[in-house]
Amino acid sequence: MPKGGRPGPAVHSEVLFAPDDLAEAAQRVAGAIEDSVGEERPLLVGILKGATMFLADVMRARPFDCQVDFLSISPFGQGRVRIESDISVDIEGRHVVVLEDIVDTGLTLTYLLGTLRSRGPASLQVAALLDKSVRRLVEVPVQWVGFEIPDVFVVGYGMDFEGRYRNLPEVRMVHDLMALADDPDLLVGEVFAP
Ligand code: XMP
Ligand code: MG
Repeated sequence: MPKGGRPGPAVHSEVLFAPDDLAEAAQRVAGAIEDSVGEERPLLVGILKGATMFLADVMRARPFDCQVDFLSISPFGQGRVRIESDISVDIEGRHVVVLEDIVDTGLTLTYLLGTLRSRGPASLQVAALLDKSVRRLVEVPVQWVGFEIPDVFVVGYGMDFEGRYRNLPEVRMVHDLMALADDPDLLVGEVFAP
């Protein structure tokens, strides 16, 4: 760690979206949700843990009448996921908007939407902060996207690597994912002040 109380030079990552960009995306997505279902008291469902910051920003960017709940999923082998902690609200007849941090292959969302759809919501839509559509394996409807990104690994603003970096106020692109896999603390010195 360099002297002087500042993080070292950022050599393993760089800022992809600064807090201002993310605030603009939250504002834009919130406006689109409000235009679509804002008069129906939608239920916003945040997917834990990655979507927490995005949900928090969207829900107060344009404070319309809505309800909020959370759902967490865990990998279940062979690209499958299962619900680890479910929402506590009956969604039959409700207008539901799922908020995700990032859509990658689309497998997680496909499973999740199938499960939620079987509960009979009046509508079921998705807002994702980031869309890595070049990596899509299954077609999945995403109504609102903050930003399209190429095939890069990102952390921050809710997104982690091995539980680290979620609390960064910006989204950072990781230069070498293999190096981060070898040492999950690789970015600590450059992204956090000591
Ligand atoms: P699928 O492939 O099912 O995956 O669409 C979506 C989930 O994968 C995680 N993911 C990432 N997490 N940086 C992250 O921190 C990334 O670049 C990234 N790409 C995918 C994420 O949990 C997402 O919900
Ligand atoms: Mg996630």
